[in-house]
Amino acid sequence: MSDEHAIGFMDSGVGGLTVVKQALKQLPRETVYFIGDQARLPYGPRPGAQVCEFSWQMADFLMKKHIKMLVIACNTATAAALPDLRARLNIPVIGVIKPGSRAALKASRNNRIGVIATDGTIRSNAYSDAILTKDPTATVVPLACPKFVPLVESNEYHSTVAKRVVAESLKDLKKQDIDTLVLGCTHNPLLRPLIQNVVGPNVTLIDSGAETINDVSSVLDYLDIANTSSTKRYPDEYYTTGAAAQFEAIAKDWLGQPDFHATHIDLGSETND
Ligand code: DGL
Repeated sequence: MSDEHAIGFMDSGVGGLTVVKQALKQLPRETVYFIGDQARLPYGPRPGAQVCEFSWQMADFLMKKHIKMLVIACNTATAAALPDLRARLNIPVIGVIKPGSRAALKASRNNRIGVIATDGTIRSNAYSDAILTKDPTATVVPLACPKFVPLVESNEYHSTVAKRVVAESLKDLKKQDIDTLVLGCTHNPLLRPLIQNVVGPNVTLIDSGAETINDVSSVLDYLDIANTSSTKRYPDEYYTTGAAAQFEAIAKDWLGQPDFHATHIDLGSETND
């Protein structure tokens, strides 16, 4: 059986494109519908209940477009909303935290695993719970890095300011003897070279979002809902609640698509202050 419907991806902003990038690479026949809630980011400092509410608005938008699977391409939203979305939607819902945790346990040799993420994700303990449930002997070193998301969203992730902020934010992590570091925010992979430079070549970086596409691929096969036809029936669609031009600038650079196009939409009434 072939299912040509799109896979939905959602994030607070451009971070979700790090997950989409892997999907385009590993699953080029699948149609991508993406929404980023840039008008209301960052999600990291917001209460979990509010992130859950916003996540539902994005999910409802994508469900109206008849997606066959939903990927929560945001760690903060996965921590806040995955159980609820999974319980109440009649399609598979995949989050980014468990795939990242599994990959970290596989990669680590000394069982000391760092996790960098938003305040909301760190507060939820979702990574510690996911890792320690599998291996109670592991040590998890969590660190909130609230300055990373604004750097990426303002398209400054190649800048010297970014280099300095990353170095300052991660300096305490260097004393923790971790050999594996989970990029527990989907915005982090855009800062990957800077992060690797600070933690050193002996620390393995785990891109949770990219790992998630392995799960997406497995579920497509398990449920027999992959698109097996040679062409995409539906073209990819990208939406943002923020300024389309700003989203496009980052997407063109990150995805390497000079013709990239995004559409502005409104979701809820509340916007950023
Ligand atoms: N990209 C999101 C994540 O993975 C969160 C960014 C935000 O704080 O809005 O957690």
